[in-house]
Amino acid sequence: MWKPAERIKYKPQPGKKPDVAEAASALMFTPVKLGPIALEQRTWVPAMVPWRSNEDGFVTDHVLDWYERFAKGQPGAIVIEATGIRDIPSGPLLRIGDDRFIPGLRELAEVVRTASRGKTRLLIQVIDFLTIRRRPPPAKYFARFLTITDEHRKRLDAHDWSEERIRTYLAQLPDSGLDEILTTAELEALRMGYKERVTDLHLPHVRNLPRVLPDLFAQATRRAREAGIDGVELHYAHAYTMASFLSATNNRPDGYGGTRQNRIRLPLEVFQRIRHVVGEDYCVGCRFLSDECIEGGSAIDDAKYFAVEFAQVGMDFLSLSRGGKFDDAKQPQIGWAAYPYTGRSGYECMPGYISDEAGPFGRNVEPVAQIKGAINAAGYEIPVVVIGGIHGFQQAESLLREGKADIIGAARQSLADPDWFRKIKLGKGGQIRVCEYTNYCEGLDQKHKQVTCQLWDRLQLDDFNVKLSRDGRRRLIAPEWKED
Ligand SMILES: Cc1cc2nc3c(=O)[nH]c(=O)nc-3n(C[C@H](O)[C@H](O)[C@H](O)COP(=O)(O)O)c2cc1C
Ligand code: SF4
Repeated sequence: MWKPAERIKYKPQPGKKPDVAEAASALMFTPVKLGPIALEQRTWVPAMVPWRSNEDGFVTDHVLDWYERFAKGQPGAIVIEATGIRDIPSGPLLRIGDDRFIPGLRELAEVVRTASRGKTRLLIQVIDFLTIRRRPPPAKYFARFLTITDEHRKRLDAHDWSEERIRTYLAQLPDSGLDEILTTAELEALRMGYKERVTDLHLPHVRNLPRVLPDLFAQATRRAREAGIDGVELHYAHAYTMASFLSATNNRPDGYGGTRQNRIRLPLEVFQRIRHVVGEDYCVGCRFLSDECIEGGSAIDDAKYFAVEFAQVGMDFLSLSRGGKFDDAKQPQIGWAAYPYTGRSGYECMPGYISDEAGPFGRNVEPVAQIKGAINAAGYEIPVVVIGGIHGFQQAESLLREGKADIIGAARQSLADPDWFRKIKLGKGGQIRVCEYTNYCEGLDQKHKQVTCQLWDRLQLDDFNVKLSRDGRRRLIAPEWKED
């Protein structure tokens, strides 16, 4: 993963832990309304893909175990990982693209309700993504994938060469030679792996996205509701389709790109279609970016504009992430797909302990405060979730008190210790396992390996009924916390 050049090493600073009385008066543990539902407290476990589903996209026992473990910590909300809205093979990612997924999701909702004793609201993050392929071995790319065009013949002055001769010739050219012959898209397919963009209007299915996505998202939301899940988080963040529509890099000429008004058009049409299908009384919000953190990308002023528009159409919450784009991703190894968390924008999304002057803890807080300020100044009160390096009570409580956000999201800290909010509430903050922001978990995610935390995955391996990772070396969920 990319690291800031300063390479300053940070240790987590969880700060003072409150006693029970202090915790009882903490804003963090007061309720907050998300449109038609209420959270018992302002604590939130954001979406994290743990690679626990199967090739068919179903809720498995491992998926149930994963969310049950978070639910035992009784946070205000848990957001189920990015879940695909299409019924297409997507590897072991959860899916919600057909009614046959409803029973599994219903079981998941019940597991969370039981394990949290009804204290946790369950949301699901729904996602659309475009095709991305692995970086091919060059020989294979030239022999099979590249389409030989008249433009290649022209540039090579090879009008009468056979296609095979052109392929063989290209395969032995050095990089500098290829730069002269191949298009930018072809070079990207060779060096990074083929990837579709929302601006690829020559592809009919990409051109048609504004026609098909509203109903795909709406039907996914209907299924979530039928499964007894309390609400939906539309994934408008990071490297995926909807974020790409919002991006300042989106220059689609068909009314869905260019100006901010055009870029937000499809995200709003999706939301309107959802309201049409599921009505006003179901919780629907979105996750989007306070800043894309890429050159030429959307920045905070865009985010303020989007936030006010989302509030105006009646979204029930906004969760703000940052970065996580393909645009600055590192070149993957041959045989691997590009991963959107390997460049600077990836660092901004999941900052690790080796950092710059700003440090990894709470670098999204001030941008989020500004965005919340813009929403409130426009006369809206929609709750805003802040995420990014939050791991201590004081840090969380003071940003709530200062009105910088309404809800505290903590992904990696909750992975390190799923009981951490509860421990604070019970005055047992001294027992918290504090995240060290090493990004070991994120490294597993990158390789599509079952995600665990290095602080607990080798502990108590002989516990009764402990389930291990495929390699047999790691436990899959954090050990139980015995609250005595
Ligand atoms: C293993 C892992 C998987 C993640 N999966 C998702 C995801 O499915 N959807 C999403 O929006 N963010 C995902 N994220 C990003 C987190 O939700 C969160 O924004 C990020 O980790 C920063 O918050 P933190 O500093 O509290 O960890 C993932 C993060 C990790 C570590
Ligand atoms: S592996 Fe554990 S300690 Fe390291 S970043 Fe992930 S959650 Fe934190």
